[in-house]
Amino acid sequence: MAQIFRPSANSVAKLSLICFAIGVPTVWLAIAGLSRSPANTKQDVPLNQPVPFSHQHHTWELGIDCRYCHTSVEKSSYAGLPSTETCMSCHSQIWTNSPMLEPVRQSYETNTPIQWNLVNKVPQFVYFNHSIHIARGLNCNICHGPVNEMQITWKGNSFQMAWCLQCHRAPERYLTENITRPGQSPREQVFNLYWELQKKGVKGLTIKQRDEARGEFTGSDDAEDLAKGRELVKKYGIKVQQLADCGVCHH
Ligand code: HEC
Ligand code: HEC
Ligand code: HEC
Ligand code: HEC
Ligand code: HEC
Repeated sequence: MAQIFRPSANSVAKLSLICFAIGVPTVWLAIAGLSRSPANTKQDVPLNQPVPFSHQHHTWELGIDCRYCHTSVEKSSYAGLPSTETCMSCHSQIWTNSPMLEPVRQSYETNTPIQWNLVNKVPQFVYFNHSIHIARGLNCNICHGPVNEMQITWKGNSFQMAWCLQCHRAPERYLTENITRPGQSPREQVFNLYWELQKKGVKGLTIKQRDEARGEFTGSDDAEDLAKGRELVKKYGIKVQQLADCGVCHH
């Protein structure tokens, strides 16, 4: 069944948005149910790429900061993908004969960008913004899974509405502060996790950080964490009552 709807998942979702607006909830629920099947979300499936780029190699073993390649992630709504020049800053000198890097050299010589296949995409009628989430100290892996362990990138979560709302309805369950680095901005803490992971190994992290690093953090119900979370909600001025309003994500 799901197979039939797959190529048009986007228009299905759009259609259901219209259905909702004109008040046909049965149709909406039926279609929404279909679009929620695992075949449609493509979660956990590594996606073929023109170059077998490994985050594990580059971020975990070499320790390159996410922002070196995803330059706009803390400043704008988009994280952005690196240009061929970024790859060539190293690969004009190392691994220059690797056959795996042939498409990169081709791209550089012909001045045509590499066509990466997008792993994560929300439909056009959904508004998303990276910078605000990073500014609140939410680690990449909470949303994208254990990127630092990925040989070939896959989608770490469903990115469906219910998944976004789980956090938007109770952000205090997710907001954390690195107790070993008081005073560091929440934004720096996001990137610091990878650095600490590389330096100390998984065993050197707190349990919460460990879950984050593994892409397994789904919020805390521990009383102490929640108290801290509520404190941070207040400190950041987050209006929790409005964070799940339709207009936040659908303009
Ligand atoms: C050396 C460059 C480089 C670094 C460093 C890097 N990335 Fe990437 N990233 C890429 C490239 C190239 C792609 C596109 C190919 C792919 O999906 O694997 C990508 C894709 C992604 C995607 C999927 C994008 C999509 O298609 O939806 C995510 C998520 C991501 N990176 C997160 C991270 C995180 C988190 C870090 C830091 C821990 C990081 N990246 C560090 C180069 C890099
Ligand atoms: C900061 C330097 C640096 C940057 C920037 C960088 N790489 Fe690498 N890359 C390396 C190093 C070092 C290795 C070898 C790692 C090893 O095997 O230990 C490597 C290995 C690779 C390999 C495996 C080659 C083989 O034959 O095994 C691929 C593919 C690759 N990089 C693609 C990319 C792409 C695509 C980009 C740009 C998005 C990129 N790299 C950016 C340093 C870099
Ligand atoms: C709150 C969840 C969340 C967090 C935290 C998050 N992302 Fe994303 N990311 C998304 C969503 C949702 C998309 C799809 C956006 C779209 O389709 O417009 C995405 C898309 C991407 C893409 C694809 C290109 C783009 O700009 O859309 C890259 C690369 C990426 N994220 C990297 C990162 C990195 C690096 C971090 C951490 C510094 C990070 N993300 C943190 C949810 C998140
Ligand atoms: C782990 C928690 C978490 C997840 C998951 C999450 N968000 Fe958020 N989101 C937040 C927090 C915290 C804020 C900041 C609220 C503030 O500071 O006022 C926020 C803010 C936003 C904003 C407001 C941006 C602005 O400019 O005011 C949008 C839009 C948004 N999120 C969309 C999404 C979408 C779409 C998804 C799912 C694809 C998502 N978020 C997933 C926690 C999350
Ligand atoms: C935190 C962000 C967020 C908020 C708030 C939000 N939505 Fe969504 N909504 C999404 C995302 C993400 C999708 C796309 C899901 C997908 O790709 O399957 C979506 C999809 C939809 C769809 C298409 C059908 C479906 O379920 O996929 C409808 C209808 C919809 N939203 C209505 C609403 C209404 C009504 C509200 C207010 C009660 C609302 N949304 C609040 C993020 C949000």
